[in-house]
Amino acid sequence: MKGLTHPNNDRTLNPSDNESIFDVLQRADPSRRRFMQGTAGSAALVAAGGLSLSGFMSAVEAAPLGKAPGASVPMGFTAVPPDLFPGTDQVTVPAGYTAQLFVAWGDPIMPGGVPFSGTAQETAAQQRLAYGHHTDGMHFFPFTGRDGKPASDRGLLVANTEYTHENILFADGQVGNGYTLAKARKSQAAHGVNVLEARRVGGRWTVLRNSPYGRRVDANTFTRISGPAAGHALMKVKEFHISDKGSVPTGAETDGRVAYGTANNCAHGITPWGTYLTCEENFNGYFGSSTGAVPGVADGQTGKLYNRYGITAGGFGYRWHTVDPRWDVAGNPNEPNLFGWIVEIDPFNPNATPIKRTALGRIKHESVQYVVDDASRIAFYTGDDERNDYIYKFVAAGSYNPRNLAANRNLLDDGVLYVARFDADYTGRWLPLTPDSLDVNGVALREHPNFAGADDAEVLAKILIKTRMAADAVGATMMDRPEWTGARPRINGFREVEVYCTLTNNNRRGTGTPSVNNPDGSTTAGAARPPVDAANPRENNVYGGIIRWREDGRSVAATSFTWDHFVEAGDTRTTKAPLPSNDFRGNIVDDPDGSADFGAPDGLWFDDFGRLWIQTDQGGNGTGDFANLGMDAMLCADPATGLTRRFLTGPTGCEVTGVTLTPDGRSMFVGIQHPGDGAAADNPEATSRWPHGQWAVASDGVTPLNPGRPRSGVVVITKDDGGVIGS
Ligand code: FEO
Ligand code: CA
Ligand code: CA
Ligand code: CA
Repeated sequence: MKGLTHPNNDRTLNPSDNESIFDVLQRADPSRRRFMQGTAGSAALVAAGGLSLSGFMSAVEAAPLGKAPGASVPMGFTAVPPDLFPGTDQVTVPAGYTAQLFVAWGDPIMPGGVPFSGTAQETAAQQRLAYGHHTDGMHFFPFTGRDGKPASDRGLLVANTEYTHENILFADGQVGNGYTLAKARKSQAAHGVNVLEARRVGGRWTVLRNSPYGRRVDANTFTRISGPAAGHALMKVKEFHISDKGSVPTGAETDGRVAYGTANNCAHGITPWGTYLTCEENFNGYFGSSTGAVPGVADGQTGKLYNRYGITAGGFGYRWHTVDPRWDVAGNPNEPNLFGWIVEIDPFNPNATPIKRTALGRIKHESVQYVVDDASRIAFYTGDDERNDYIYKFVAAGSYNPRNLAANRNLLDDGVLYVARFDADYTGRWLPLTPDSLDVNGVALREHPNFAGADDAEVLAKILIKTRMAADAVGATMMDRPEWTGARPRINGFREVEVYCTLTNNNRRGTGTPSVNNPDGSTTAGAARPPVDAANPRENNVYGGIIRWREDGRSVAATSFTWDHFVEAGDTRTTKAPLPSNDFRGNIVDDPDGSADFGAPDGLWFDDFGRLWIQTDQGGNGTGDFANLGMDAMLCADPATGLTRRFLTGPTGCEVTGVTLTPDGRSMFVGIQHPGDGAAADNPEATSRWPHGQWAVASDGVTPLNPGRPRSGVVVITKDDGGVIGS
């Protein structure tokens, strides 16, 4: 996310004489270069067992979900051009494709909901029955068809709604007529997760408004906490009776095994046993302090936790804490510890309590991607999206059992969390975060003052609650804002465990006086200014890129891997002055050169056909560094050759985030987040009138798209000849 409620991205330039990526490449052992970028990298990949373009084509044909007509030519579509400023304020897809609005903020998704008015007069109670505000990661869970196979015309679309823009959410803006509990409750209800039933009837995709599967999980929904940190003293908070009349303390303390709500649900993941994983990202911004102060690093472990996770007296300006004491850290200091987790939701059981899985660590989780290897071991890869934070994987202790899905239910509670170290020789290490793990000074974490406890069970609980600080201690590699992770499908002879992660940007790399995250865990969130390194080779990394790694031995449990950059994004035509390690032009493989330039990759997803979809969160609204790149976009890339093509451009001020396909590959859902970002309360349509400016009705052909304010929403894309999307 970007926008009003996102931490500032100041942009400072401070050239240094650190070595460039080219210097690093020259230094590297040539025998390690089997896994490199660009054209040479493609050849190397083939030599190492990767796929050529023709291999990729046959991979599509051999996709586990079956070959569909038209799918034998990958990226058969005609690229769309960049939507340059001031922009069309539309979603544009290639010729031969049709995009329509499927669902948007405020649309009812469960019984009792009211149609969105356009005025934002809807109440908190009505918002609880309707799609949340700023849509993000999502997945289509198919129903089983009459033939016993996954259906492509009926299923549950489960989607996060990450955050809210308060001046668009309320008819009178955040503070017009004062800030009230009623506003906080509506804002809280517009966060979280949406489960809706989707049906395609007569060629039209429709939201079933009265579906019994319809569900909202929001910032007040009861959840359970499981795994090693459950029950720890740091997880015990004031107990409240929560209603629309207020959050009233009961006088009791919780047992550390329950929480209310999930917030800042950025991207997502799924499990092979059919559940949805929602990732809590910038949770810190919802907390505030009624005293105007929060403890600092010198005040003990709570102050240190606040500092490392960015809990401040004012938060992002949401003001929830001014009317809802649950979010006021002055009186309820441990409540932030209940956020920053991955939360498991059973989409097919609306009564199932969501579970916060603490074994996967507490960070600003962007997304999570599972991989099952040939030995049936399962790992979950996840990035911590903050400047100079880390990439993690959780390896379950047990094996995945495809024949008894219920047997997997507690795999997420027992295992080892690792953090990544990327070395200059294109190898890397997964550093375990356990009581035995040694910090950079050779001291076991159980002896470390941040994690010391009565026994190893308590040490592990503290390691997980303070995951960032444990990663600081063991010397993980500080990354350029890890966003989504995705795994290349292991199909058609491609057997590697190969995982990709977007590194969206970093204006605190190689700029200012060099500093790193202190191994004692005392660094303020996002405050360090590390020099460039092999994995993060650009100073002031405006355009970001995508890193990838292969697990040694094709095992998800490996503690070592090889890595390279799949791409460094950029602007072929930029005139931005080069820094010593940064040409800003990138090395996107496109034809003609420059035709697929993009920056700030964020969303990243492999479909089951083996194609990589990349979504951008560039900011700048097609101006400044992004003048040549235009509005945010979605691109399609071939992982074997790197060939990239722009598939979609979004409306003004939006971010493109969230993508999923029906099993047949013929309907694609894409999230459009915060069109018209930054509008003031008295003129919400100042920069965007999307989606109503593009369409009169939604994809069902019936639901009117009322004017009044821009709305985040999900579009559904089909190919006019009925073929596989992107073919
Ligand atoms: Fe919610 Fe890092 O994007
Ligand atoms: Ca982003
Ligand atoms: Ca290029
Ligand atoms: Ca994101």
